[in-house]
Amino acid sequence: MNGGLLMREMHTMLGLRIGLAPVLTIALGAAAAVATYADGLDFAAYRSKVEPIFYKKRPGHARCVSCHSAANNSFRLQPLPEGATSYTEEQSHKNFDVVSKLVIPGNPDKSALLFHPLSQEGGGDVFHSGGRQFLDKNDPDWKAIAAWINEGKK
Ligand code: HEC
Repeated sequence: MNGGLLMREMHTMLGLRIGLAPVLTIALGAAAAVATYADGLDFAAYRSKVEPIFYKKRPGHARCVSCHSAANNSFRLQPLPEGATSYTEEQSHKNFDVVSKLVIPGNPDKSALLFHPLSQEGGGDVFHSGGRQFLDKNDPDWKAIAAWINEGKK
């Protein structure tokens, strides 16, 4: 009897294994879909409206680039050379690739780029080592980035 039970159990386990395969395939398919989704993000709009926010002096805040060019977290910008007032196109392309991975096109609220530096009271994350860069979603810079993320949903 015990042997029979064991066999049944083994069959069930095998069944589970095989049963998992389609689930995994679907999950992988979804990940691929997310990657192509990001292709809707517009580079020109990023360069003219979003990127300057990362290096301009925003009153009361340290510039994103001052921490995020040497950073070893996933928001890693190209270093902005002393005296430079903007990035070269090549640098912008590299930044764009990094930043695109931190956003979900069409969903600014769930995009790490906007959620993490937003204050908790304003609907954002509990803690960002770089401080509460955006007090709430009415911050014009938050809105400008959100608009770019929303337009990226094609
Ligand atoms: C004073 C330094 C400092 C400044 C200024 C700063 N950050 Fe950060 N930020 C950090 C550090 C350190 C981390 C990693 C630890 C953490 O997640 O809090 C981080 C993490 C992040 C992350 C999460 C990256 C990941 O790995 O998931 C995002 C997104 C982010 N910052 C966005 C911004 C934006 C946007 C600005 C400017 C509006 C900004 N930060 C300004 C220090 C800073």
